[in-house]
Amino acid sequence: MLEVRQINDEEVEQQIGLASLSSMSSLYIDDVLAVVERGARKLPTYLDLYRKAVEQAWSPYELDFSRDREEWQALSAATKARRLWSLRMFFAGEERVASLLAPLVWAAPSKDVEAFVATQLTDEVRHTILFDRYWREVVGSEAQDLHEQVSRIGITAQENPAYRYLFYDWLPQQSQWLASHPRDVEATVRFVTVYHLIVEGALFLTGMRYQLEGARRWGRTWGFYQGFTAATRDESRHVLFGVKYLRDRVTERPLHFVPLIQDTIREFRPLIHTIMLPPGGDMGFYGGQHLEFAWPGLSPQRLRDEMVDYALSALGRRLHAVGIPH
Ligand SMILES: [Fe+2]
Ligand SMILES: [Fe+2]
Repeated sequence: MLEVRQINDEEVEQQIGLASLSSMSSLYIDDVLAVVERGARKLPTYLDLYRKAVEQAWSPYELDFSRDREEWQALSAATKARRLWSLRMFFAGEERVASLLAPLVWAAPSKDVEAFVATQLTDEVRHTILFDRYWREVVGSEAQDLHEQVSRIGITAQENPAYRYLFYDWLPQQSQWLASHPRDVEATVRFVTVYHLIVEGALFLTGMRYQLEGARRWGRTWGFYQGFTAATRDESRHVLFGVKYLRDRVTERPLHFVPLIQDTIREFRPLIHTIMLPPGGDMGFYGGQHLEFAWPGLSPQRLRDEMVDYALSALGRRLHAVGIPH
């Protein structure tokens, strides 16, 4: 779980903030994630985050997947199945969060929040398109359009009931509630706590960290690595927004919002562990040649446990930045 960095904290903003898509091949994911740690110590304003979103926007159509495709074609069926499982969790996750966010734009308590959340919505669609391209050009999908593609890759309740509950039931219901009750600040606080802190801050950033660190150790720093690293930089903005939004609510009415956030965390934190359970409890999904090469000496179970620990400790640091006592 030790950080793997190549640049120091002072260089992070400059080098990560301004990195172009093609230069992402040489970035280390822990340097990208350091942006969240730094930002949490001195929170940016909503318009600082908006400005970064504009300056860091990238095109998923610029990526070249030819090396990824070449590698894919030579993989064994077992390796393909493992990789598809983990990438489907991300693909479906990006599509779900993209489709759920719009009501938060309407429910924004200020123009500054509204401006930022609008950029986040386009980010999430961009991430979905990144995966759609990967599926067509690397995996070889022949889905007619994005709509059909999304319906093919969705995660079922049999595969992962906790994932299904969070992404297909609870979040859509909360989002629907916000759409018809945009002045319900308590509902936005619960939504942002689950969406930005649990889903993005704990689940997404942890999965991205291990996916990308493993890919780099393996030498697979091609088109997908570039796009997914850029997506991680976007996610780090989203998480900082979530921390800032909740911190502002807590500052306004601590006695009201601290317990509400604590209750929400208590309710949803257990899902971090259950969502990371592989289909049918088969720990082989965390194993294989990839694990032996990138994390020598680690069993699949140990890797999964380390990921859960990483997610929980990241969540603890975000809550600290929000001003929630342990
Ligand atoms: Fe995303
Ligand atoms: Fe996001």
